[in-house]
Amino acid sequence: MNQPLCHLLGIKYPIIQGGMGNVSDPSLAAAVSNAGGLGTIGIGTLPMESVKKNIRTMLELTDQACCVNIPISVHPQAKEAAEEVAKNGVPVVSLSAGNPAPYIPYFREHGIKVICVTATVNQAKKAEAAGCDVIVCEGYEAAGINAPNESTTMALVPQVVDAVSVPVIAAGGIADGRGLAAAIALGASGVQLGTRLVATKEAHFHENYKKAIVSADDEATVIIGRKFQQRRRLLRNDYAAQILQDEQVLDKNAYFEKTSERHHEIGALKGDFQNGFINAGQIAGLIKDVPSVADLFETMMAEAREVLTEAYHKLFS
Ligand SMILES: Cc1cc2nc3c(=O)[nH]c(=O)nc-3n(C[C@H](O)[C@H](O)[C@H](O)COP(=O)(O)O)c2cc1C
Repeated sequence: MNQPLCHLLGIKYPIIQGGMGNVSDPSLAAAVSNAGGLGTIGIGTLPMESVKKNIRTMLELTDQACCVNIPISVHPQAKEAAEEVAKNGVPVVSLSAGNPAPYIPYFREHGIKVICVTATVNQAKKAEAAGCDVIVCEGYEAAGINAPNESTTMALVPQVVDAVSVPVIAAGGIADGRGLAAAIALGASGVQLGTRLVATKEAHFHENYKKAIVSADDEATVIIGRKFQQRRRLLRNDYAAQILQDEQVLDKNAYFEKTSERHHEIGALKGDFQNGFINAGQIAGLIKDVPSVADLFETMMAEAREVLTEAYHKLFS
């Protein structure tokens, strides 16, 4: 708790769960919070009834700090979702996919800590100027929707760290203690995980999704959507291969239907890879097991300690 980010967010380890849109599950978020990280449910494009239910369930399953991710420009009732977060006393909110500035004063008035997800130095500076507490900076390695500039975590994190004064969290391409140590070495105060948490015991995702991550290699992900200015990193499966093949001839409406949250749910929750896609980051190739969240965090922290000590000796003795 003495680590500034942990102190600020009320968590034990500087490890944050990234929002996971419509396929978020309160029990995984609670498992992350109960294991000492910051558990997060995303609202994606879920109807408000589901948003309300998920928030209530998460708060029932953990008495630790937890978070709701609102993708501002994606959810049709982002403002109502923000009110629900405040009404239920969720301690932390994460804002992505849109301009967070109009929302930040509202959350601050309600004593809610605000994390802004950014992918450029400019976005990070604007989010800080608008009053956010923590910046997540997400590189192009990450699962799901990525920024058009395609900056990688390694290049982006130190530039954002130099540009802002609030704590920075590195996201994209982190799955073990080496990644955590590297992020800290670049000046980050913590890490946000997506892909690694999909392959955990508590995650409710379909076994096919977890198996696909565990058997992935370094070339297993693909980027779709460049033509439509919406890059999304997926694990290569039959459905993703078909989209890639068809992308140049699909019109905008057809493309966005094929990549809608409905097809994400079919892939991630039903494990049907003929009709649905699964988000995954480049780090999937490093993931070889399905641990409990608590074991994962203990291992990551122990490994980061070892790696940082070894790095010191490698460089200076
Ligand atoms: C299944 C899944 C769904 C995601 N949905 C969202 C989302 O709704 N909002 C968001 O800001 N990020 C979303 N992301 C990105 C994560 O929050 C996180 O930043 C990213 O996965 C980190 O990179 P990594 O996958 O390399 O760990 C999603 C990631 C996954 C794996």
